[in-house]
Amino acid sequence: MTCVVIVGTQWGDEGKGKLVDFLTEGADLVARYQGGNNAGHTVKFEDQSFILHLIPSGILRNKMSVIGNGTVVDPEALLQEFEGLQTVDISVEKYLKISETAHLIMPYHRVFDKLREQAQGDNKIGTTGRGIGPAYTDKVARSGIRFTDLKNPAHLRNRLETLIPEKNCLMKYFFQSPVQFSVDQIVEEYRGYYEQFKSFLCDSSLLINQAIDNNQNVLFEGAQGTFLDVDHGTYPFVTSSNTMAGGVCAGCGVGPSKIDKVIGIVKAYTTRVGSGPFPTELLDDMGGFLRKEGSEFGATTGRPRRCGWFDAVLVRQAVRLNGLTSLAITKLDVLDKLETIKMAVGYQSADGKTHTELPPIYEEGMTPIYEEHSGWQCPTKDITEYDDLPKALIDYLNRMSELVGAPVSIISVGPKREETIVSDPDQIWA
Ligand code: IMP
Repeated sequence: MTCVVIVGTQWGDEGKGKLVDFLTEGADLVARYQGGNNAGHTVKFEDQSFILHLIPSGILRNKMSVIGNGTVVDPEALLQEFEGLQTVDISVEKYLKISETAHLIMPYHRVFDKLREQAQGDNKIGTTGRGIGPAYTDKVARSGIRFTDLKNPAHLRNRLETLIPEKNCLMKYFFQSPVQFSVDQIVEEYRGYYEQFKSFLCDSSLLINQAIDNNQNVLFEGAQGTFLDVDHGTYPFVTSSNTMAGGVCAGCGVGPSKIDKVIGIVKAYTTRVGSGPFPTELLDDMGGFLRKEGSEFGATTGRPRRCGWFDAVLVRQAVRLNGLTSLAITKLDVLDKLETIKMAVGYQSADGKTHTELPPIYEEGMTPIYEEHSGWQCPTKDITEYDDLPKALIDYLNRMSELVGAPVSIISVGPKREETIVSDPDQIWA
């Protein structure tokens, strides 16, 4: 039995969908522990490309897939995902379970997400507009609605009758919007969802712990990335959940002593969507090259991603914050054509001071201190053995590993399942 956590080490979009899909082959159960349909996990198989937003990518391999209590679920979006899976003949009835205590994204959450962003003008976070922040806000304020609250119509009505007047007051007087939410309408809509989802609901902590007790291999699928974590990310330009490995314990009801391995997914360069600090961002042609070669457009919103060089300072912090046991490096093939490749090893502030950690409040004008490496300038897509990788690529990986303080266990040279090299199998399933 092994419990493996997969986390993004940068700002999300590191290629977790592909890696989770690859690692799922050895798993018996795959669980999501945070986030919602703000995520977009792209999986390519049999010449098909599939994007999952909420359902764990494990379902594409017909493995038991669990949406844990720490997620926020938009029922409408989930039904759309069900439809998508039907087209590839995957049975959600057989393979999907949802925590009965997962919080729901309500119609007012989506509206507030957009209105709050508009109200912030230039200071906006650049959210996905899916209602994630407002849903987590209500959860922490103890004003959330969970799947279990949908069971009894009188209980649901009672909760909403307390909550909706406050939401409507905000709409009318703060946002000056004519839109008002109706308790009757929401009760009807969400009771309908309950009927559609009731057979999927379960005590997900019990289910996952039983799998662990039965010596099954469990994979926890992180969404977003370490630097979008609400506690340790580039606040306030973060998402509203704990994206880091520690989030598994609260978000799935699993004790820390059960976790064996934590694999950090590392893009061979860096990208970010939305606003916020990005020390190695490239606003020149090189940024454009990475965006084009790497097809760096958001899987959820289609927004062009900001692109930059690999930042070893950031990933070293991710190794510490997540207790990473190894790294999976993705999108190395995007760098195939480059003569030289840069890697940030520190930053220098305007007063000449050197920083070896990303400060909690990023100072404008900090410039990265780069190391320059020779590129390998040959295609890597069809390479299947570690020993066949070009020497310059292995040197780049070794330096990355040395700087961040964790070994490399997996190397991804393309989007498909088979374009993956495992350099250290002991670091994955025991
Ligand atoms: P929210 O999660 O929609 O509230 O967005 C907050 C921030 O997280 C924004 O900068 C988003 O672009 C970013 N974000 C949310 N989900 C993802 C993701 O799956 N990949 C990359 N960035 C994300």
